[in-house]
Amino acid sequence: MGPVRRRRSRASVRSLIARALIAALAGGGLLAVSAPAHALDNDLALTPPMGWNSWNQVRCYDLNEDVVKAAVDGITARGLGDVGYEYVVVDDCWQGGRDESGKLFADPERFPSGMDGLAAYVHRAGLKFGIYSSPGSETCANHWDSYPVYGIASLGHEEQDAQTFADWGVDYLKYDWCRADITDGLERPAAFSKMRDALAKTGRPIVYGISEYGDTAPWTWAAPIANLWRTTSDIQPTWNSVSSIIQSQAKLASYSGPGAWNDPDMLQVGNGTMSAAENRTHFGMWAMLAAPLFLGTDVDALNEQTVAVISNPEIIAIDQDARGSQASLVSDRSGAQVWARQLAGGDIAVALMNTTGQGQTIGATLEQLGGEAAPYIVRDAWGRKDISNTAKSISAHVASHDTAVLRLRAGSDPTLPGLVSAAGSATIERGATEMIPVRVSNLGASALVGTNLEIMGAAGITPTSASYAVPSVPAGESVVVDVELSVAADAPLGETPLEATLTGEGEVSLSATVVPPAPDTSTHVSDLVLVQADNGWGEVRKDASVNQQPLQIDGITYAKGLGVHADSTVRVWLGGQCTALTGSLGIDDETEGGDPAWGFPSVEGTIQGDGTTIWESAGMLGYRESESFTVDVQRVNMLTLAVTDGGDGNAYDHADWLDLALECAPDAPGAGTDPQVSVNADAVKVGGELTARFSGFTADSTLRIELRSAVVELGSVQLDADGSATATVTVPASTSPGEHRLVGVDSEGLEAQVTVMVTADGSPGVGPDPGTDTDKGAGVSDGAGVTSAGLATTGGAGAGPAMALAVLFLTLGAALLRRSRMTSAR
Ligand code: GLA
Repeated sequence: MGPVRRRRSRASVRSLIARALIAALAGGGLLAVSAPAHALDNDLALTPPMGWNSWNQVRCYDLNEDVVKAAVDGITARGLGDVGYEYVVVDDCWQGGRDESGKLFADPERFPSGMDGLAAYVHRAGLKFGIYSSPGSETCANHWDSYPVYGIASLGHEEQDAQTFADWGVDYLKYDWCRADITDGLERPAAFSKMRDALAKTGRPIVYGISEYGDTAPWTWAAPIANLWRTTSDIQPTWNSVSSIIQSQAKLASYSGPGAWNDPDMLQVGNGTMSAAENRTHFGMWAMLAAPLFLGTDVDALNEQTVAVISNPEIIAIDQDARGSQASLVSDRSGAQVWARQLAGGDIAVALMNTTGQGQTIGATLEQLGGEAAPYIVRDAWGRKDISNTAKSISAHVASHDTAVLRLRAGSDPTLPGLVSAAGSATIERGATEMIPVRVSNLGASALVGTNLEIMGAAGITPTSASYAVPSVPAGESVVVDVELSVAADAPLGETPLEATLTGEGEVSLSATVVPPAPDTSTHVSDLVLVQADNGWGEVRKDASVNQQPLQIDGITYAKGLGVHADSTVRVWLGGQCTALTGSLGIDDETEGGDPAWGFPSVEGTIQGDGTTIWESAGMLGYRESESFTVDVQRVNMLTLAVTDGGDGNAYDHADWLDLALECAPDAPGAGTDPQVSVNADAVKVGGELTARFSGFTADSTLRIELRSAVVELGSVQLDADGSATATVTVPASTSPGEHRLVGVDSEGLEAQVTVMVTADGSPGVGPDPGTDTDKGAGVSDGAGVTSAGLATTGGAGAGPAMALAVLFLTLGAALLRRSRMTSAR
């Protein structure tokens, strides 16, 4: 046999190995997977289909059988079949017409072997063959590319065409709407179902992909009809197209699964002007989204770097994971996004995607990622190697438009860094000095002793001390070291990573988010410094429209407000000092109602307080329309005003946030009580107990109690509806004598602390001796009538039994160090 045959036999060994690797990584090796009950019951595409499709490479007139055969040969030669690329699909413009019996035939000039001949060529290479048709009377190319052969779409020929395709050896059908509602009055579910039934009747397994560009939310109705459905309009080979498609998929995660996939359209990797980083983001995010992976480029012409991207077995394994859970957007900090998907067998895939123009560190806590099995080993999927251990969070520096893809698996590896790790972050106002609690975790098998935390300053941020001694950390435990930072009045706003190391253990993830001082009198949002001001077009304007005209809606002019353009996100820092926000959202008169060629103004708005939605526009707002609101912003630190295009494109979406009056005061009534903690004694012996009273925290949340700087996590307690609780805690016997701080942190990140002296001999402490009955409560006076709440321990240190004693609380000036609702701050 010729060279093709020899190449294939080598390839098939590689193929076995590569497929086994992907199957093992994809969790599919041992799992019997079947399509979920709601999916089309053809038992096909149980993982997203992969292959090549002609459209993004040659579009219409350059399509011919040589192009398709070259793709087949290229897939084989470049090892792409080995990693899963399987379906070779001929898109629109293959059709020559119908014969006198109505049977389709291929264009004889461009496809001299006919479709059966071409299918045989594809099959001989060990690949599968796909073809294109449409449910109406015309295909898209008839309309958009003036393809001159008519009557080639399947309306009225569904069963005949399905049988023709089956006879030719077709394994995959792309069935593309192309205005069948306009040309033929068809209705989507019925028309697509007709071809589904026709395909089923042939008895040949044919994967069925439908496409109506996401126009009627097919994810809500197509699962019983097709194996995949397009969710967007046509992808272009540009960063804008790719990144906006990714954003549009965030809301669709729950609709996808084995046998029934969201299809954000075929790959453009290798086409257009996308950089290496952008190609990585495109491919890596398609894998995260459990998207079908159809190459649409000349695979022979790809450089090695791009081939490495599209054939990375670990990225493909994420796409092909047997569980089929599409990634969700976990967090989005001004375009620095974290996406995560749960994989079969308990692993977690995480994408850290940087859509911004600057490189930055992107991270997430295991809690945000749904990682309950900590510690985890972190694997770099692009680099195909384990990189670290983590018990708390992950982060990576990600270049502009690039995406890091990490895979977490439960366990720890002593040969990797991060067995000892430290991380901390906090939000600090300009001009303020605050503490950042840095948690040092020891996942290792022996105690961490004699380590220092060394910190470098950054622009406008100065640590009070360059070095902090870390108390010893027993194996499997953690301590918190408070690092004091001063932020200059002109420090740059936003998150700044600080260079920090743990001596002998490596880098520490430490960052400060600088915000403007919180308003202490009533004001307007447009008079505040905007922490973030992103607009879909033009710039966010204060007290003017986006076109820099006076703000005007329905003929009324407003002096104050913000002129934005969808999609827009504006953030201001309230620091918990405001109580109410009033204003309205609408479309500025300057749009003059839009233009049929481009679209019409229409927006939706939301207001969030520390990430929680506190107001939403009732529906889409159109030209001259507005909606007013009064929202409670008590205790809100970061206020976010977001406007989206409502899903119909952002043409003419000139939105105005009108007035935006804030009621604020340094201690406004109801502005949120400051959290407080007080203890029944100012000193306690090691091993002794303390009873602490907490108040002013978030109602009904869980309060974690820690002792700093010592072995911490004394336990946790449920706060009542007043945000108060009482708890008795035991100071672990391993605590080093000296000054410590008892800290309460609620699930919203609010914290308060009080200083306590831990003594070796109890003097001058008042805590009971270890092992004595707790109700002796030595040195505690009667009087306050407080009964302790039950305490659930979460750490290694045991909590004392409940103390049913009346105790007098000495309030030790419970210093409120910081009030942050940002859970990421921990
Ligand atoms: C539509 C589809 C494309 C392609 C063309 C063919 O635009 O969305 O993917 O199939 O039709 O004409």
